[in-house]
Amino acid sequence: MSDDTNRQAAPDDPERRDVLKFAAAGALGAVYAGLVGYPVYKYLASPIEKAAAETVVTEMVVEGGAALPKNAALMFKFGAKPAMLIHHEDGSYSALSAVCTHLGCTASYEPDQKRIFCACHGGVYDALTGANVSGPPPKPLTAFKVQVTDGKIVVRRA
Ligand code: FES
Repeated sequence: MSDDTNRQAAPDDPERRDVLKFAAAGALGAVYAGLVGYPVYKYLASPIEKAAAETVVTEMVVEGGAALPKNAALMFKFGAKPAMLIHHEDGSYSALSAVCTHLGCTASYEPDQKRIFCACHGGVYDALTGANVSGPPPKPLTAFKVQVTDGKIVVRRA
């Protein structure tokens, strides 16, 4: 028997060290590729997903909207984005996007002050029109058309 066939790698064998270095580099490369690749994938894929979600929904029935008491709001999803239906004291309705025009936080209706408030930076909007009233929001909330048909609340893009 020769020495080569019975030879086992010793822990400090340079050949074994190279194999371990190669495996560690491969694992590190895979982790790095995941860390860099996933955000890039999400960045590139998200506009397509968003566009698909936005183009599909132009009109919808707000479930539970007809049962909404006065001076109350109901949050719902219009496509992929949060929106709110507000039933005003005079019996009218308004439907607005709930995505704050400042940095995109979700705004909500405050019945005690009859306003829409974004808690992220104190943005205030008019509950009837969605107009930006105070704080950092640079423009109004998107308003939708509201129609009451056969006891159902239908919301559509204006
Ligand atoms: S994100 Fe709404 S006020 Fe800043």
